[in-house]
Amino acid sequence: MQITVKSADPASFRSECYVIGVYEDGSLTPAAKNIDKLTAGALAKFLRRGDFTGRTGQKTFLYDLPGIATTRLLLLGCGKNQALSDTQYRDVIKSAVQALTDNSLKEACLLLTEITVADRDNLWKIRFGSEVLVQQLYRFTRLKSAKNDTAPQLKKLTWQFSNAAQLSAASKAAQVGLAIANGMALSRDLGNLPGNICTPGYLASEARKLAKQQQLKIKVLDQKQMETLGMGSLLSVAKGSRQPPKFIVLEYHGSKKPGQPVVLVGKGITFDAGGISIKPSAAMDEMKFDMCGAASVFGTLQAVAELKLSINVIGLIPTCENLPDGAANKPGDVVTSMSGQTIEILNTDAEGRLILCDALTYAERFKPKAVIDIATLTGACVIALGGQASGLLGNDQELVDKLLQAGRHSADRAWQLPLWEEYQEQLKSNFADMANIGGREAGTITAACFLSRFAKKFKWAHLDIAGVAWLGGSSKGATGRPVPLLTQYLIDTSGY
Ligand code: BES
Ligand code: MN
Ligand code: ZN
Repeated sequence: MQITVKSADPASFRSECYVIGVYEDGSLTPAAKNIDKLTAGALAKFLRRGDFTGRTGQKTFLYDLPGIATTRLLLLGCGKNQALSDTQYRDVIKSAVQALTDNSLKEACLLLTEITVADRDNLWKIRFGSEVLVQQLYRFTRLKSAKNDTAPQLKKLTWQFSNAAQLSAASKAAQVGLAIANGMALSRDLGNLPGNICTPGYLASEARKLAKQQQLKIKVLDQKQMETLGMGSLLSVAKGSRQPPKFIVLEYHGSKKPGQPVVLVGKGITFDAGGISIKPSAAMDEMKFDMCGAASVFGTLQAVAELKLSINVIGLIPTCENLPDGAANKPGDVVTSMSGQTIEILNTDAEGRLILCDALTYAERFKPKAVIDIATLTGACVIALGGQASGLLGNDQELVDKLLQAGRHSADRAWQLPLWEEYQEQLKSNFADMANIGGREAGTITAACFLSRFAKKFKWAHLDIAGVAWLGGSSKGATGRPVPLLTQYLIDTSGY
């Protein structure tokens, strides 16, 4: 996809289609007013007919209007003439893409920055709009035999933007949106692939591919090397599977100075059947998405590299399967983590924290500025926050605040839960340093409490993405979240 920003004059700028917004009271944005003037009032005349009311979601094409350098004009209903919310703006953009692709258009010029969005400026609208446009064209057809019938033709979009002083900033905003959308697409592809294809070994080979494309440093530790490091907790989960575990280390060095890196740790359980504490069979297929934390690290690293951010970022991906087997973890087993702390495994289905804790200990060697882990960690988080926000907990309020802010700015929100000392008691074990579960109450918090015991040596935050990483039902599929939040955080940190 190619996205450009231009001060395009509709009288002369050639495009297959111009896209404009219209409000319910018939009022026109300045861009629409200009079109109306160029077409000698044809637009206002059409609106006076009353067929098109401007109600949200309504859309229609007008053809062959005089005075403008296009044969098609796409009108998008924007509802009442008042500032839209982020979600309403997203819906307007989605509806534009729907109309353009339904008509097999290859190219269009968007006159949409004049739609007001509450508390957002034009650069934000171009950036977020670009992200949504490209995301809306995403299809996952790799595993279908007939591939091309649904492939959208749309290849080129131009934002009409006449503020000359901001033109280069606006181009940059469009490129950020595009990079985020591309990162999300990578993340969604990996998430959507089933467990029999997307194995730990597959993730390792995809990591090698990404490293080659984006010139990242890469190292993949195998089981032997993990044994040498003493990753007894991670390896205990992998024992129940015939797929060998991998520990992927990706390094992006974009800062000229050596600078402390930000470390991203992504949960990479390529299928979570629960192990001996096996899950119920309903919707178990969705546990192929249990590597979406890992997938978001891939997507974010790709976006960061594409934008050439001047920052150092390390991606750590512990990856294996969690299956029942004669060699699998059993409830009551005690394992020794890389940190030396012992863990009583009371529920083998609380495996995410068992692989993440060793990755957190491994992160110490980078002397990180901050460590952020991303994991589809608890069903409790889905109950608490649903699909709207990632759960966010951490040991440094400044880091948490930056992530909350990045989530608000990228419309990929997170919500903080408390990590009070009092909750730690729930992890008490009679046989080891800690248990791997803390009972039914506050499940998302006790999971984070567990991780916090391995994050004592750095500033750390944890994103529980169990509710946001994929959609169920008829739109089942990975969402690419929280690539926007993470990329925004790194943009802010790098001073881009
Ligand atoms: N991958 C799951 C979490 C999950 C469950 C995400 C459902 C999305 C939907 C995780 O490994 C898990 O099984 N967690 C357990 C923890 C419990 C045993 C303490 C859970 O949430 O039930
Ligand atoms: Mn589990
Ligand atoms: Zn899991």
